[in-house]
Amino acid sequence: MNFSSNDYLGLASSDELKDAYQTGISLFGVGSGASPLVTGYSAQHESLKSELTEWLGFEDALFFSSGFSANQAVLFSLMHKGDLLLQDRLNHASLMEAGSLCDADMRRFRHNDLKHLQSLIKSNVPVLAVTESVFSMDGDQSDVDEFLAVCGASGTMSMIDDAHGVGVIGKDGAGVSGISQYKPDILIVTFGKAFGLNGAAVLCSKDLANYLTQFARHYIYSTAFSAAHAYALSKALNMIKTQHWRRDKLNELASVYDESLGALSAHVTTATPIKPWILGETSKVQALCHRLKQKGIWTTAIRPPTVPDGSARLRITLSASHQRSDVLALASQLKRFTEES
Ligand SMILES: Cc1ncc(COP(=O)(O)O)c(C=O)c1O
Repeated sequence: MNFSSNDYLGLASSDELKDAYQTGISLFGVGSGASPLVTGYSAQHESLKSELTEWLGFEDALFFSSGFSANQAVLFSLMHKGDLLLQDRLNHASLMEAGSLCDADMRRFRHNDLKHLQSLIKSNVPVLAVTESVFSMDGDQSDVDEFLAVCGASGTMSMIDDAHGVGVIGKDGAGVSGISQYKPDILIVTFGKAFGLNGAAVLCSKDLANYLTQFARHYIYSTAFSAAHAYALSKALNMIKTQHWRRDKLNELASVYDESLGALSAHVTTATPIKPWILGETSKVQALCHRLKQKGIWTTAIRPPTVPDGSARLRITLSASHQRSDVLALASQLKRFTEES
């Protein structure tokens, strides 16, 4: 039983998606053979782009092989000397690393502290502010409306990484686009989590997409994902939009998890399938991980520096592919370990 993957909706192993991928491979082969600007971009990529932009309400989208490269491509292409980049201090490593390496000045605002963000914005330089919809290690959410209001009022360009939100939160799983009437200038969607596959998209205006097509080196000089992959992603998108039972099941499993474990101090309540189990000491988390493995439960210890010192944890994640009995089995082991330690 895997309790640490990001396959929130259980699509990665669904027969329906496997069949679609196999059909895609039979029709289009297994590789794209080139970067998108050479011959790697197919009619299947174009269909996927139309479906995605229509669903999430953006003019254009560019595809990347991973969320890591999409985030880096955007920051390296847009941020120049003299610009100001403001990031939530818990943003993903791909954003933080690109922020430190690019030519702009980077400042980090306190986690989800939009007053702090506001105080760092300057009016005399171009500013890009970046946050995530759902934070991957804590499973908490940002206040998207408020973030976009702060950016809008100050003329700050906004970017939201929706890696852990799309498919899971918002109306019909539309992530940020399903919870807010406002849109960021740039939305990052990754396909390695709720979509059950891999790859990513940058959604933005036509002008920005044109600019990135000219300057984003991760886009220009990297092999596109295959047409078969794009075909499977279209199927995944359709499943996300229409198979509401997957999100309903996630909610039911989350209730079982919270009811079973809510009274224990390591438990953290979240409104997402990410359930941190915070023990603090790395050695304790490793011992728990080992115990769970012996019981057939697969989790991974998350340690500093990925999370702050003294907050080593299991990053437990629920999936629509779990059964109620799986969650109860996990809960029973977590309770026993707590009683014994
Ligand atoms: C918030 C966030 N953004 C981006 C990424 C990178 O995405 P990918 O795994 O597609 O490279 C991750 C991966 O865990 C993530 O959590």
